[in-house]
Amino acid sequence: LWLITGIRRRQPGEPPVENGWIPYLGCALQFGANPLEFLRSRQKKYGHIFTCKIAGQYVHFLCDPFSYHAVIRQGRHLDWKKFHFDASAKAFGHESMDPSHGYTTENLHQTFLKTLQGDALSSLIDTMMENLQSTMLQSGMLKAETSKWQSDGIFAFCYKIMFEAGYLTLFGKELDGDQSIARQQAQKALVLNALENFKEFDKIFPALIAGLPIHVFKSAYSARENLAKTMLHENLSKRTNVSDLVSLRMLLNDTLSTFNELSKARTHVAILWASQANTLPATFWTLFYMIRCPAAMKAASEEVRQMFESSYQKVDPTNSRLVLTREQLDNMPVLDSVIKEAMRLSSASLNVRMAKSDFLLHLDNKESYHIRKDDVIALYPPMIHFDPEIYDDPLTYKYDRYLDENGQEKTSFYRNGRKLRYYYMPFGSGVTKCPGRFFAVHEIKQFLSLLLAYFEMELLDSDVKEPPLDQSRAGLGVLQPTYDVDFRYRLKSH
Ligand code: HEM
Repeated sequence: LWLITGIRRRQPGEPPVENGWIPYLGCALQFGANPLEFLRSRQKKYGHIFTCKIAGQYVHFLCDPFSYHAVIRQGRHLDWKKFHFDASAKAFGHESMDPSHGYTTENLHQTFLKTLQGDALSSLIDTMMENLQSTMLQSGMLKAETSKWQSDGIFAFCYKIMFEAGYLTLFGKELDGDQSIARQQAQKALVLNALENFKEFDKIFPALIAGLPIHVFKSAYSARENLAKTMLHENLSKRTNVSDLVSLRMLLNDTLSTFNELSKARTHVAILWASQANTLPATFWTLFYMIRCPAAMKAASEEVRQMFESSYQKVDPTNSRLVLTREQLDNMPVLDSVIKEAMRLSSASLNVRMAKSDFLLHLDNKESYHIRKDDVIALYPPMIHFDPEIYDDPLTYKYDRYLDENGQEKTSFYRNGRKLRYYYMPFGSGVTKCPGRFFAVHEIKQFLSLLLAYFEMELLDSDVKEPPLDQSRAGLGVLQPTYDVDFRYRLKSH
């Protein structure tokens, strides 16, 4: 009978199995409703590892952080590529980027490392700092010439500023010599259009990853295609100051792939999504929690003030030329902790690997489990981010959680008296760790530094509660708030 119904029986040596109530879907609905609660209750019942059927796939959830290493160190039995390549092709509509499928010989992983880290990072940061300042101060978006209070939603505000500055940093500007007002307005309209299309498409992203075809969602489909049109090589090649990432990807699309022009453009939409989808909500949570906590505001403002002062920079909104080098940004432990704490509370990316063959998974407690070929092994970092044994009072925001007694980065976290290697994982782990993580943290630091330097900010309602996390994106990255929170800001008088 179990063969007919597709239900798996636990074999000797395998983790306990839960098939769920519903054929095919299995535990998907219970998991989806509240992943953390679901996994915690199963962990209590079964222990460090158990198997759940989720939408036709058997997933082994590993819940012991001391055993994470067995999965993260990426032995020969585990594959991470399949998921990434399949998910990207499914969501963005390009042909497979997996070299073994024959459409391209590009090693994407290498492209990302080469253009987002090391030497490439400094120029990304410099460009971002300029773009952030012009977006905040010169574009009229904030009517920065006035020093009157202005209100906005924090989420809406972060979206506008970070999207525009991030978009221009990666994809360059259209203006080439021509600085006329009309040209600048056209540039602005292009970015605002891209933002609207991005939002429309991003809304249905979880449904695409769950396997629904994009054609079901008419407006999201046209939003994605509109974005792709702006990223056809013939359009991108008219832009100046394009990042190394995008220009190298254009070159490799042209020289190493058999993609048609539309498919090439869709690979750039994938990059746009990867660069914004997590950064925007992460920026929201960082700013929201910081504004709400007077001690955090005070410590962060002081760090920023000292940084500009020690490099003899005067804060002047009419001549916005503030610079923060990579070394300076690396030396801002308070902002680091403020960002980390916000992401601890809001990130929910599932780390997955697929078994390439039957094999034995060895846990830290010396137990071993049989894993079958094509099964998935998953780590869910919120299990550690909200573990009260690792993080005291885990639901509470403490801006200095990641600072040690000397005010420097804290890296020692313990469980049962044992030091943990993995205690903070919003960027994934091992080979699938986000290649843009250094840029991401730096750009959020730049955003906060500029806001703190130029503006006074406060919540409209200083007792406001934090909005709940939108769990529909659980597994995919930093979660969005279910609603926005209002604040007001005005230029400081200097
Ligand atoms: C992949 C998180 C910002 C570029 C990932 C993954 C995570 C992640 C968890 C791995 C997904 C997996 O294991 O399946 C984040 C967070 C960010 C952020 C939390 C911001 C707070 C960025 C930025 C960029 C970027 C700013 C680029 C400019 C990428 C790329 C990948 C990726 C290209 C795919 C890597 C690959 O498939 O080899 N990100 N990311 N990310 N991220 Fe980020």
